[in-house]
Amino acid sequence: MHKYLVVGGAGYIGRVCVDKLLARGDEVVIIDSLQTGREENVNKGARFYQGRMGDAEFVRSVFEKEPGIEAVFQFAGLIQVGESVKTPGKYYTNNFAEGIVLLEAMREAGVGKIIFSSTAAVFGIPQEIPITEDTEKSPINPYGESKLFFEKALLRYHEAYGLRFTVFRYFNACGSTENAHENHVPETHLIPIIMEVAEGMREELTVNGNDYNTPDGTCIRDYVHVEDLVDAHLLALKRMETEEMGYYNLGNGNGYSILEVIRAVEKVKGVKIKMKFGARREGDPDRLIASSERAKKELGWKPKFQTIESIIETIK
Ligand SMILES: NC(=O)c1ccc[n+]([C@@H]2O[C@H](COP(=O)([O-])OP(=O)(O)OC[C@H]3O[C@@H](n4cnc5c(N)ncnc54)[C@H](O)[C@@H]3O)[C@@H](O)[C@H]2O)c1
Repeated sequence: MHKYLVVGGAGYIGRVCVDKLLARGDEVVIIDSLQTGREENVNKGARFYQGRMGDAEFVRSVFEKEPGIEAVFQFAGLIQVGESVKTPGKYYTNNFAEGIVLLEAMREAGVGKIIFSSTAAVFGIPQEIPITEDTEKSPINPYGESKLFFEKALLRYHEAYGLRFTVFRYFNACGSTENAHENHVPETHLIPIIMEVAEGMREELTVNGNDYNTPDGTCIRDYVHVEDLVDAHLLALKRMETEEMGYYNLGNGNGYSILEVIRAVEKVKGVKIKMKFGARREGDPDRLIASSERAKKELGWKPKFQTIESIIETIK
């Protein structure tokens, strides 16, 4: 039996990872502060420790109580771009500085592998589409920066201490599994907001700008199912037995405009989505589409959900 620590395991994506590890017979330890995650999201089959990854005493004590952890999945983070612009210190502290405390505790405990949830936001406004792992990283907000700083720290820990790591840069994670549903508070992501309108919990959707350089004028983004994301993590864990580091973009390579996503929800759910156009949001590029060729080639990653309709069908 293998034993893993999932940091942020009470969140949306972390929950899916915990479920998959337990389903294949692994032992799972969770650290989560519950600052955005929820207690009911904690899988009862895992051992749960509530606290911050930046609390050195606490994290050290978890490693002491849980000897034999082979690798850490690091999903914990604050994820709102707009909030990060207004309160940068909160993001640098939570996503970067607290992450370093976790790395130090791992080093002391002799845990030598980590898989990190990074983001497409590290690329900022990309100079090329599709975005590959080698596309220039130039984040335009503290959220993206906090993630890029941590990516850089991983490389330094590798050089200094031989830490093995995998960085995944997710594009837009979405979709549901039996137990995990995207439901951030506040919700800033498109698909759950459309679903709220569909279910009558929100009156209408405001589409931010319709004068982008795209066929229908709305922004094009890449949507990837949460289960496909987590499958990539499990493949990376295997690869890390022999390889020291890896960086991968995870998207499905098909861009969809906001209007296309709205139409897909209308079609799949048989509802009409009330919407209006609002002003552009600062710093929103016309399109963000990933190339995930490297993940397919090196990890053997095969995303199961290829279309936006198939992703939306999983949301109940
Ligand atoms: N959801 C997306 O579309 C998306 C896209 C790109 C990257 N990511 C990254 O994936 C990760 C998971 O995202 P999610 O959508 O599941 O978010 P989420 O908010 O649902 O989950 C994050 C979890 O981390 C916990 N957490 C946050 N800071 C912590 C800390 N300092 N110590 C301990 N626990 C802490 C929260 O309580 C929460 O349970 C994040 O790091 C995010 O930046 C997400």
